[in-house]
Formats: sequence, C-alpha cells, structure tokens
Amino acid sequence: MKTIVISGGTDGIGAGLALACLRRGDTVVIVGRDQAKGAALVDAARKGGAVAEAMVVRADLSLVSENERVVKEIKVRFPTVDALVLCARFFRSRHAVTAEGFEHNLALFYLSRFLLGHGLADAMERAQQPVVVNVAGPGPNPTDIHWDDLGLARNYDGVTALMQGGRLNDLLGAAFPAVHPESRIRYVLVNPGSTATSFAGEYDPPTAAHIESMKRFGKPVEQSVAPILTLLDTPPDEPLSAFVEGRRISVDGPAFDRDDALRLHTLTEKMLSR
Ligand SMILES: NC(=O)c1ccc[n+]([C@@H]2O[C@H](COP(=O)([O-])OP(=O)(O)OC[C@H]3O[C@@H](n4cnc5c(N)ncnc54)[C@H](OP(=O)(O)O)[C@@H]3O)[C@@H](O)[C@H]2O)c1
Repeated sequence: MKTIVISGGTDGIGAGLALACLRRGDTVVIVGRDQAKGAALVDAARKGGAVAEAMVVRADLSLVSENERVVKEIKVRFPTVDALVLCARFFRSRHAVTAEGFEHNLALFYLSRFLLGHGLADAMERAQQPVVVNVAGPGPNPTDIHWDDLGLARNYDGVTALMQGGRLNDLLGAAFPAVHPESRIRYVLVNPGSTATSFAGEYDPPTAAHIESMKRFGKPVEQSVAPILTLLDTPPDEPLSAFVEGRRISVDGPAFDRDDALRLHTLTEKMLSR
C-alpha cells in the first residue's frame, strides 16, 4: 500500500481520488482549505469498511509559508511518500494578490505545485516507484507566457491567468527531471478534460453561467479519477510524460521546451527568495 499526498484533496477530482485510495487501503494525506470536507471523506471511507491511515491538513496553499509548513508536517509523519497528486486550484475573474504579494492564481496554481513537488522530492526518493501527478492542463499548443509580468498585473483576465497557469505547470514538469537528474521520480502531467466538479472560484456573471453548464455537461469525477489511479500504480518509464483525457501526448513540442522550463525555474527561485 502506498502513501499518497493529494493537494486540493477536499473536493472535485482530488476528493474522488482520495476516497478511491482510502477505500483500497492506501495511506492518504488530504490537503485543502476545508478540514471538515476532508474529515467527511475519511469518515465515508471508514464507514465503507476501509481501515486506511489518513491525515487531513488544513492549509491555504496560495501562501508560500503554508506550503512550507505542509511539507514539513508531512515529512515528520511520513518520511516516505510514494505519490504526490496536485489538484488545488481556485479561479478568479478579478485580479487578487495574496498577503505575501503574489497574484493569487500564480501562487496557488503554480507556486504551490513548485513548492510541494520539490519540497517532498527527498521523501519520494525513498519510495519504490515514486510519482508526481500534476493535474492541470497540459496541451501541445502553448499559449503565451507573460515572462515580464507573470502575475498579469498590467492586464489581468481570469481565463488568461488559468491558461498561463496550465502552461507554467507544463514547464514545471519539463524542468523537474532537469533539476533532479538522478531521480527515480516520474513526473506526469494530466489534463482530465471537462469534469463536473465544484469548480472552486469567484466568477463574474458570464463566467459563472459558463461554469454552470460545465457542471451539467462535464463527465463524472470517477471517470477522471480512474486513469489517475492507473498512473499511480504504473507510472510511465520516462521521467516526464503527459496525458490528455487518458491519451498520451508527446512532450517533445514547444510546450515542454527545456530552455523555457529552466528559465522559469530560475525565475521562480528568484521570486521565492524575495
Ligand atoms: N474540472 C475540470 O473540468 C478540469 C478540466 C481540466 C483541468 N482540471 C484540473 O484538475 C484539477 C482539479 O480540478 P477540480 O475541478 O477537481 O477542482 P475543484 O472541484 O474546483 O476543487 C478545487 C480544490 O482546490 C482546493 N483549494 C482551492 N483553493 C485552495 C487554497 N487556497 N488552498 C488549498 N486548497 C485550495 C479546494 O479546497 P476546498 O474544497 O477545501 O476549498 C478543492 O479541494 C485542477 O488543477 C484543474 O486545473 C479540471
């Protein structure tokens, strides 16, 4: 049985995955904003007969300090981590800045995943078949990156922030094997496709209407969870791989460019050291 950390494990795809993993006996660390939702998942699994170990960590992952705390707490309790699944996300139609000065979408959708992935790498190296599954939106057709304004302070738009966030996560995956060249950790980028989840966020009216239709017509969470479970059990052999709705895509294209990935890595280290 594995030890699996799931950020954004309190709702949507992350919650569906947490429940499935608890039910089959994995040890699951659920990280999210709402402690009660995480505890309810653990209760549901136990009522169904599961006896798995669980830890629910309440955290605001849009804060760097919170990610650092979470990494420390997890490593104290679980020196070996088999898998990290990254699902936390919160859409904002309007520009918002965290108390630490980062644009909110950049902080939660990208910086948190950077900090959790690199921060837990040493604990994952102790596992037999370690894997990071970054559930975001890999795609072969890269959108622009606003290199000189990653927080989109000059011209913010929620959809642009989300698309750029997906792109940054592709590059985060591309940089991972370069930054950890000797590592056995497999980095897997997963775009689950339109799924009926909670779509956590603060939406303006036109976007809210669109989200309501996505909730109605998106596939059930279980359908997006199943291929992720397969990836946790049998990660691809290659250090980096990417999937769109269960179909493997090439990571040789510009979306996963190594120079861009290393440029972003360096820029991120600078941002975090400020
Ligand atoms: N759903 C889709 O159609 C779709 C399509 C493509 C890609 N994806 C990707 O799939 C992943 C999961 O999406 P989803 O739709 O399943 O998510 P979701 O239902 O919107 O749930 C979001 C999760 O993120 C957590 N979260 C939000 N803000 C947080 C914060 N500040 N700190 C800590 N946790 C926070 C929420 O915690 P609380 O519940 O505790 O507030 C919740 O567990 C995302 O990365 C998304 O980009 C989804």
